[in-house]
Amino acid sequence: MAGLDPATQGHALRLRHWVAGSRFAWPAMTDRFDTMTIYDSITPTRTLDILRIGHKGDGETADGIYVPFTVPGDKVTVEVEGERGRIVQIVEPGPTRVKPLCQHFVICGGCALQHVETTAYHDWKRDQVVQALSQRGITGIDVAPLVAVAPRTRRRAVFTARLVNGAVMVGFQERGSHFIVDMAECHVVHPDLFALVPRLREALADVLPEQARAEVDVMRAGNGLDVVLGVGRMTLDGALRTRFADMAGKLGIIRLTVNGELVAQSEAPVLDWAGAKVTPPPGAFLQAVPDAEAALQTLVTAAVGNAKRVADLFAGCGAFTFPLARHAAVAAYDSETASIEALAVAARNAKGLKPITAERRDLFRRPLLKHELDTFDAVVIDPPRAGAKAQCEQLATSKVKTIAAVSCNSTTFARDARTLIDGGYTLKSVTPIDQFLWSPHIELVAVFERS
Ligand SMILES: C[S@@+](CC[C@H](N)C(=O)[O-])C[C@H]1O[C@@H](n2cnc3c(N)ncnc32)[C@H](O)[C@@H]1O
Repeated sequence: MAGLDPATQGHALRLRHWVAGSRFAWPAMTDRFDTMTIYDSITPTRTLDILRIGHKGDGETADGIYVPFTVPGDKVTVEVEGERGRIVQIVEPGPTRVKPLCQHFVICGGCALQHVETTAYHDWKRDQVVQALSQRGITGIDVAPLVAVAPRTRRRAVFTARLVNGAVMVGFQERGSHFIVDMAECHVVHPDLFALVPRLREALADVLPEQARAEVDVMRAGNGLDVVLGVGRMTLDGALRTRFADMAGKLGIIRLTVNGELVAQSEAPVLDWAGAKVTPPPGAFLQAVPDAEAALQTLVTAAVGNAKRVADLFAGCGAFTFPLARHAAVAAYDSETASIEALAVAARNAKGLKPITAERRDLFRRPLLKHELDTFDAVVIDPPRAGAKAQCEQLATSKVKTIAAVSCNSTTFARDARTLIDGGYTLKSVTPIDQFLWSPHIELVAVFERS
């Protein structure tokens, strides 16, 4: 790396440590990320041109070699192993390569695309949806521009913590490894979540067994932080329970659950959807970013329009149920007992909404059947990443007029969209939303109408 300016050397060093698999404190600086030699390779290398970014966020060459952290137009020297390339040198940077914001970028497993200029990054994300549809023969759809979300707005994150020689590391996991990035900054999570990280380091040192790993699931509710800790190799006894409860008090955590047991609660966490106050069960599914959730709610309620009876399938704790119930009677279904109970309790106490029913049902094994679906004017469907194959096969036979489909996986969405279209639905619109900032994942809302 001789001859490189110190800033570029800093980044080169971090990349080299990532590439070489070694790990120790890399220089805490953010710098240029352009032409540089990253390390002196001892294995044969090839110089490649990057043509595009593939669907997992890695740059791709014409002959199908994937090189992480590259952009179209990059000329890079790489070590190639099978279909994977590791950068040794960026010979010529592509036009959309930019300086990543975060000092942990490349090493941290949280972000994959901070090195791509914003417009190009947005276009790439939107294009992933267009391509997924086109792979199922669905073309000519006017996919809307990506709805962007601001950095530092994620309200939910799962950190990993570990006590090593009396000191606790807290952060996301390194890319492709179980090592922890002892986080000094993060441009994705809400500042309240990030502010908890140094305080967790101190507090967990008193409670974690040496070498034990803990998963720390933090959710920012309307009235404070809700934390779910999963600690390996630890039996929760009376003394530990008291120490965890003290920790919750000191950190101002309003609810703390440890290894499935509620150990402290000063207030029940509350989320407000259309005036309904919902207390989600510990660790329940929630849309990760409030602004993304608001965009989803707006698109879903607009799609449903004046429908009088709506089914909310894969309803979770009711992020769509309650906004929909401003104008329509809603039947909510989800397989998680605790989420459906939380939804039902909030529905009983809600004021000014149309009737809501809540039913626990496994929609993979027992999808709503045609005769059940035909009692609704509209259906909202928001399955997990696996999609909703069985449920969409039933919907495809139904008379339901409007389907608002929410998805966090373009590939399974496109498969299910094909089923609906083959059943006679028209895909009217698709709107991608950047809920998972700088990751290759995309959220979307699609509207289907039966003509
Ligand atoms: C992407 S989340 C959507 C939740 C909700 N619509 C929201 O926006 O907060 C998917 C939901 O599907 C539920 N789920 C997963 N598998 C299911 C199944 N087989 N049957 C019914 N619900 C399921 C999960 O419990 C989760 O609440």
